[in-house]
Amino acid sequence: MSDSNFTATALVILAAGQGTRMKSDLPKVLHKVAGAPLLHHAMMSGASLEPERTVIVAGHGAEEVQDSARELDPEATAVVQEDRLGTAHATDQAREALVGFEGNVIVLYGDTPFIKPETLERMIAARGTNAVVVLGFEAADPGRYGRLAMNGEMLEKIVEFKDATDEEKAITFCNSGVICAESKLLFELIAEVDNDNASEEYYLTDVVALARARGLPVTAVRCDEEETLGVNSRADLAAAEATFQARRRAEALDEGVTLQAPDTVWFSHDTMIGRDAVIEPNVYFGPEVTIETGAHIRAFSHLEGCHVSRGAIVGPFARLRPGAELAEDVHVGNFVEIKNAQVAEGAKVNHLTYIGDASIGERSNIGAGTITCNYDGVFKHHTEIGARVFIGSDTMLIAPVKIGDDAMTATGSVISSDVPAGALAVARARQENKPGFAIRFMERLRALKQKKSKE
Ligand code: UD1
Ligand code: MG
Repeated sequence: MSDSNFTATALVILAAGQGTRMKSDLPKVLHKVAGAPLLHHAMMSGASLEPERTVIVAGHGAEEVQDSARELDPEATAVVQEDRLGTAHATDQAREALVGFEGNVIVLYGDTPFIKPETLERMIAARGTNAVVVLGFEAADPGRYGRLAMNGEMLEKIVEFKDATDEEKAITFCNSGVICAESKLLFELIAEVDNDNASEEYYLTDVVALARARGLPVTAVRCDEEETLGVNSRADLAAAEATFQARRRAEALDEGVTLQAPDTVWFSHDTMIGRDAVIEPNVYFGPEVTIETGAHIRAFSHLEGCHVSRGAIVGPFARLRPGAELAEDVHVGNFVEIKNAQVAEGAKVNHLTYIGDASIGERSNIGAGTITCNYDGVFKHHTEIGARVFIGSDTMLIAPVKIGDDAMTATGSVISSDVPAGALAVARARQENKPGFAIRFMERLRALKQKKSKE
C-alpha cells in the first residue's frame, strides 16, 4: 500500500452494556478469555489495521475500561454513554473523540472477542467500492438478530427482529453488529437516525437504509458464525473460553506441535510454541510464554511469562513464573519453581527447588531441595551462580550472594557469604558421634513408659 492511497482507521468499540447477567462488579468487557480481557480481544482484532484512534464507549467503570485499553494502546480513550439509547446513540458518543480524524471507522462490540483480523481487512477492502460495509453471517438459528435484506450484492437495509415482518424474519443472513464507513459520512448518517421503532432506540443499523436513500452503495461481507459469538453471561464466557481453547489446540497440532492429550492443555491468547515441541497432558500456559522448537514440557506443569529454549525439558510438576528464562538443553524437574531467573545452557535443576531472582551459569547442577532465600520481608535480592557449579542438596543460598565458577557447596549448607571460584563451601554444624548413646537413651525411655503404665 503506498502512502498516497493509505486510509487511516479508527476503532469504536461499544461496551456500555450493563452486563447484568454477568452478576459482577467488574465491567463485562474486562472479564477474560484466554488470559486477556474481552476488550483486548476486540482491540487485537483491529490491531492489524493499525488504528490511528481507538475509542471505547463505556457505561459504568469507564476509568477501569480506559486503563485496561491503554495497556494495549496507550492512546486509547474511553467515553461514557450516560443513557443507553441504542447502538447509534452509543456510536455517536465517539463523535467528539474523532474530531479531525479522516478515514474509516470500524464499529466493534467489546463483548465479541473472535472477529478475525482478516475479516476486518476484507471489510476495509470492500469499503473501497462501498460507502458502508456490514459484517453478516449465516445464522444456524437467526433468533433475535437483525436481518440483512440483500438485493444481489447490495445491502438495502437491516431490519431488527422486533420490527421485522414474517417474510423478513425468514431471512437467515444476519447482522454481526460490525460496521465500517467513512468517518464523516457515518456521523452524518447517525445524526439522521431516529428512534421511531419497536424498541424506541436509536439503531446504528438504520445507517444502511439512510445511505441507500442517498443512492450510496452498501454491501455485506460474510464471516463464520463462530466469529460473532458474544458474551453476556458466565456461561457464555465459559463457552467462549472453550471455543478459543479448541481452536488454539487445533492450530498447535497443525503447526507441528505434539499435544499428547490436546483437551487437557490450556493456552493463553499469546502462547507461542515451536514445531516439534512435545507437550504432555495437563499443562497450563499463562500469558507471555514462548516455547522453542523441540522443547519438552512434561505433565502437570504450570508456566507463565517465561521462555523455554530448544531441547529443554520441564516438569513433570514444574512451575515457571514470570521472568524464568531457560536456555538450550536446561532440565527443570519435579516440584521446582523458577521465577525471574536466567538458567544457562545445559544447567540442571531437577528436584524440589525454589530459584527466584537468580542467574545460573552453564552446566551447573542444583541439588535437590535448594532454595534461593531471595526475600527479607521487604526487599528482593539476587543470587548469582556461576558456570559448572555444584550446589549440594538442601543448600540455602541467602541472597544477595555469589557463587563463583566451578565452586561447590556442601549438602545442607546455609550460604550467607560469597563463595570464590573453584572453592568448596561447607556451612553446617560438624558431625559428632556419641558411641552407645542411642541404645542407652532408648532403654531409659522404655523404662519410663513401663513405670507410667503401672501407675
Ligand atoms: C444488535 C444489532 C443487531 C445485531 C446484534 C448482533 C442494532 C440496533 N442491532 O442488536 O442487528 O444482529 O446486535 O449481536 O444495532 N450498546 C451500547 N449502548 C447502547 C446499546 C448497545 O454500548 O445504548 C452496546 C452493547 O454493550 C453491546 C452492543 O452495543 O456490546 C450491542 O447491543 P445489544 O443491546 O446487544 O444489541 P442487540 O439488540 O443484540
Ligand atoms: Mg446483543
